[in-house]
Amino acid sequence: MKILIINGPNLNLLGKREPSIYGSSSFEEYLNSLKSIFPKITLDYFQSNHEGEIIDEIHKADGNYNGVVLNAAAYTHTSVAIADSIAAVSVPVVEVHISNIHKRETFRQKSFIAPYCVGSISGFGLDSYRLAIFSLESRSLK
Ligand code: DQA
Repeated sequence: MKILIINGPNLNLLGKREPSIYGSSSFEEYLNSLKSIFPKITLDYFQSNHEGEIIDEIHKADGNYNGVVLNAAAYTHTSVAIADSIAAVSVPVVEVHISNIHKRETFRQKSFIAPYCVGSISGFGLDSYRLAIFSLESRSLK
């Protein structure tokens, strides 16, 4: 099984960025622990601060991965284009957020991408990614 994790803008700064909200671990550190939790799953990782690059990656994932774990970060709340890209592909996409977006500012409570994802996981810190991978794995066994 192959899963692609896509992180959107500012998530390259995890560990340094607002640690009281997003924690003090970098994503690269956390990715190593994810790989040891899921030794049988190939986990690839892509991060970009650019909307079009994220869209290109979602297109490329179709047919090449069994699932995508997407933290579109701020684009979650603004991007019709990313929402359309998820609707356009058949690879299942799970929406992930480190923080609980429903407990935060009103502008973060709207997700443009949620209606096109198989599900959304929000508020479990970095563990949200593990839960998303687990859900894609369980889905593939059905
Ligand atoms: C985030 C929540 C978004 O509102 C924010 O813009 C992010 C990170 C999260 O993982 O909690 O950059 O997606």
